[in-house]
Amino acid sequence: MASVSKSLIFFLLSTLSILPTHTHPLDPLTPTEFTQIQSIVHNSYPKSSHSIAFHYVGLEEPTKTAILSWLEGTATKTPPRQAFVIARIDQITHEIIADLSVRKIVSDRVYGGYGYPLLTFEEQGAANALPFKYTPFLESIRKRGLKVEEVLCTSFAIGWYGEKRRNKRVVRVLCNYLDGTVNLYMRPIEGITVTVDLEAMEILGFQDRSNVPVPKADGTDYRESLQKLPFGSPLKGISMHQSDGPSFTIDGHTIRWANWDFHLSFDARAGPVISLASIFDLQKQKFREVLYQGFLSEVFVPYMDLNEEWYYRVFFDAGEYGYGLCAVPLEPLRDCPENAVFMDAYVADHNGTPVNMPNIFCIFERYAGDVMWRHTEAAIPGKVIREVRPEVTLVVRMVSTVGNYDYVNDWEFKQSGSIKVTVGLTGLLEVRGSMYTHKDQIKEEVYGTLLAENTLGANHDHFFTYHLDLDVDGDANSFVRSQLLKTPVTDHRSPRRSYWRVVSETAKTESDARIKLGVAQEDLLVVNPNKRTNIGNFIGYRLIPGSFAAPLLSDDDYAQIRGAFTKYNLWITPYNKSEKWAGGLYVDQSRGDDTLARWSLRSREIENKDIVLWYTLGFHHVPYQEDFPVMTTLSGGFELRPANFFESNPVLKVKPPQPDNRSICSRA
Ligand SMILES: *[C@@H]1O[C@H](CO)[C@@H](O)[C@H](O)[C@H]1NC(C)=O
Ligand SMILES: *[C@@H]1O[C@H](CO)[C@@H](O)[C@H](O)[C@H]1NC(C)=O
Repeated sequence: MASVSKSLIFFLLSTLSILPTHTHPLDPLTPTEFTQIQSIVHNSYPKSSHSIAFHYVGLEEPTKTAILSWLEGTATKTPPRQAFVIARIDQITHEIIADLSVRKIVSDRVYGGYGYPLLTFEEQGAANALPFKYTPFLESIRKRGLKVEEVLCTSFAIGWYGEKRRNKRVVRVLCNYLDGTVNLYMRPIEGITVTVDLEAMEILGFQDRSNVPVPKADGTDYRESLQKLPFGSPLKGISMHQSDGPSFTIDGHTIRWANWDFHLSFDARAGPVISLASIFDLQKQKFREVLYQGFLSEVFVPYMDLNEEWYYRVFFDAGEYGYGLCAVPLEPLRDCPENAVFMDAYVADHNGTPVNMPNIFCIFERYAGDVMWRHTEAAIPGKVIREVRPEVTLVVRMVSTVGNYDYVNDWEFKQSGSIKVTVGLTGLLEVRGSMYTHKDQIKEEVYGTLLAENTLGANHDHFFTYHLDLDVDGDANSFVRSQLLKTPVTDHRSPRRSYWRVVSETAKTESDARIKLGVAQEDLLVVNPNKRTNIGNFIGYRLIPGSFAAPLLSDDDYAQIRGAFTKYNLWITPYNKSEKWAGGLYVDQSRGDDTLARWSLRSREIENKDIVLWYTLGFHHVPYQEDFPVMTTLSGGFELRPANFFESNPVLKVKPPQPDNRSICSRA
């Protein structure tokens, strides 16, 4: 049965592929294209004589100039469809550009620098299975009185700690225990480390150092069906229903809603990629550019535990594990409301074969009972004027589950012109097994909080660095810091002694635009210095920082050298197509020589240029007992908000949404 329907689907897919399916040059690669890329690579490197692993396959984006002239309709032809492939061929890293129209490799460069590409799921899976055929490991498990069939192992990137010699592609495999729970992360088997060579796929080293107990399974399971009395008071039914369907349209990957128009793509490394976001200006009766492209460039998660099994737990969730690769299907009515629409994504597996990822994005209109604007006027004798406009926004959501952590990523578009980006942290903590069962027993540094008996939650950080290529009404933009300065009043023009005023300064070079937030009181703007409103203000957008955190590692800590792009919360660089990944293109075992911090050292000019804003939102995470056995979502974000972009409030004339037909019926 299954094989019949599979071949039918394949037949349909191959028939469809004859048609020109592409309407937009930024669309992600299709399954057919992934298959073509796989055979283009195999044509040059036959499988019979080469070992080939596909570590990254994604769209090789046309140049910005090509995209913009295609959009304006001035391009003579659609930019060619090309793919960027990072493959390990005979254990050497190749950067390949494959052209899908001429069906061949147009560029093939061997990478000889430090660092390795993304780890593939398949090689991690193979590495995780090795300990189960390794006698010393099995003995260690038996010695602890554990059942080997209840043990599960995962791979950890090893990082770089100053070694001069280049290391092989290696991971450390660490194991957890099920036996009575699915929450394996709360049951680490401490002390056992298996080192695996990923190319030879063999065990290089084994260590069993300690014998702390595995924390108990009791109270760790988070499945609804297994929870026992007492329960809290249940809530009545609640839903978000639109009888007439949503107010947005999805045309391929282009989404139009209210006054917004943007393109949504998916990348194995970054997850959602928002491009060409523009907003309709009622007064000017045209769409105006806001964001050429925005995506999550890197996620840096250093842990603070210095134990031998822990010091290297410094994760780069995009560059090492693939933030998009780790995306998970969203559950209707739970992850997204009733009115959500879902979209699939595709990635290439280790062999270059396309893999369908269902329900990776959900897109929905959010009405959370909030107010967009309001006023009650009671000062006019004889009448009360009350005007309220409810806030309805459009959300694009993706959840990436990188091992234990779940990150809920929202891009939210507001009719007022704001784009709000939020990350919610939930899922399971990474905990260390310990002999302690009460805080009073602890007399040493344990690098975290005792969360339950034998369970220490390790202190750590999460930094999310976004690449935000704002093109505010065109690509020639400047970055302006508007400092709010306390100003003393020394003459006697006023009884006041002080006030604050705004002193704006345009950044000339990259070094003027490295900013640690929380030091000065300032507004941060990207303006178009060539365009002004009718009354003379420069047209701009403002970054409103949300959660931010200063890194607390020293500059010479190897973890921080690799994560140096978090040193400032905000950076500006001139647009450069190859500067996409804040932690470098090759992050596994990177040495920090290709980070945003390095690029910025060139101090290039950024005034009245096509510029990119890099914003890092961050959290220091000190675990608390409520984070056990599963963490309630902790959210942070930032907002890009128009600042003298419109002549006046763009939502003055926005009508409140109509009452839904269903609610009219139920009232009748
Ligand atoms: C909802 O009501 C509007 C206005 O009365 C009507 O035009 C529309 O067809 C109705 N939709 C449904 C699904 O009944
Ligand atoms: C673009 O970025 C790459 C990588 O940082 C660099 O090698 C190249 O010189 C840059 N180009 C320009 C024009 O700055």
